[in-house]
Amino acid sequence: MNYLMETYSPLPLHLVKGKGCHVWDEGGKAYLDMVAGIAVCNLGHAHPVVAAALQQQAAQLFHCSNLYHIPQQETLARMLSENSFEAKAFFCNSGAEANEAAIKLVRRFSSNKNKSGAKILTFDGSFHGRTLATVAATGQDKFRKGFDPIPAGFKKVAYGDIDALEEAIDETVGAVMIEPIQGEGGIRVPPQGYLQKVRALCDLHDLLLVFDEVQTGMGRTGKLFGYMHEECVPDIMTLAKALANGFPAGAVLARPAVAEAFAPGSHASTFGGNPLAMACGVATLETMIREDISEKAHQQGLYLQSKLKELKQSHSCIKEIRGQGLMVGVECEADISFLPRAGLEKGILLNVIKDHIIRLVPPLIITREEIDQATGIISELLQEKGL
Ligand SMILES: Cc1ncc(COP(=O)(O)O)c(C=O)c1O
Repeated sequence: MNYLMETYSPLPLHLVKGKGCHVWDEGGKAYLDMVAGIAVCNLGHAHPVVAAALQQQAAQLFHCSNLYHIPQQETLARMLSENSFEAKAFFCNSGAEANEAAIKLVRRFSSNKNKSGAKILTFDGSFHGRTLATVAATGQDKFRKGFDPIPAGFKKVAYGDIDALEEAIDETVGAVMIEPIQGEGGIRVPPQGYLQKVRALCDLHDLLLVFDEVQTGMGRTGKLFGYMHEECVPDIMTLAKALANGFPAGAVLARPAVAEAFAPGSHASTFGGNPLAMACGVATLETMIREDISEKAHQQGLYLQSKLKELKQSHSCIKEIRGQGLMVGVECEADISFLPRAGLEKGILLNVIKDHIIRLVPPLIITREEIDQATGIISELLQEKGL
């Protein structure tokens, strides 16, 4: 019997070690990692500063509960706020939990303003997590199939279409929740200026704006947070994935006036913000800022896109290359779902979304040589299939 529930269909690979942009299997074979645990290990695997912070904390105190002060939470909350917008933080353990908390915060805030039951507008193609409220928020039906009854309170709007958003706003709406770039939806980048317009509409109609930066945050798009590509600031922002470079951690940041809607007892998490996660989070963010990792992601992202554009010349199956920083999608006209498995043979980890989009989200410390190697292997793999 397989003792695991079959929620995943893992590739036949058992990884035992990682360093920088490489991982190794149990037989000692190395793989160039273009996935980074799905946009998680932004500083690369086994980063020495993060690993040392974790080891040091583990030798002192794993866990104590939020019944007591956890000073590292205050440090990370201050650092996040100083590097984004004036905000208070709540820490949890994952992206879905961060969004779940954001949804609860929106509802509490609306209810305090006599707008109880206010709806949240979310977007076609979006992805916000796998809890019941976050699958309800998600703009893809397949994630809700068989899970009725699905919580109410969400309305879907076309992504990137400002007129559609304006049309959907009425007195029943309290907030808009959006990914600055859709990740699971296929690396969909909205038109330039769109996020700013979303902000303006939220201001006009007195709506809260929630940026789900679970995938786009922590330097991934070439700025510390994805919204920073435009002149706009969220009321609420959610983070997870790369927040602690691979140690499970999530966060909700909210403007103080919004954060006030949560009082003692409104929301909680046993593990959220525990000392181990916070030690990793502080070490990750300090390193990211000290080494200006976001700028590295910006530069290497431009290089990666230029190399992919070269590939497009010789591979007719490539339809579009899009993304920002090191969050890059290569949309193909053919089914390329063979790539992740075929990549293993050639020593590369690749991820494909919806059977036809290569999602490239490597560690942000990737070098030009490694980008050359990755694009070279992708080219070979496509060529071998005559694509
Ligand atoms: C934008 C976005 N939000 C939320 C989530 C859910 O995060 P988690 O898997 O940590 O619950 C993801 C995961 O891919 C994501 O990309």
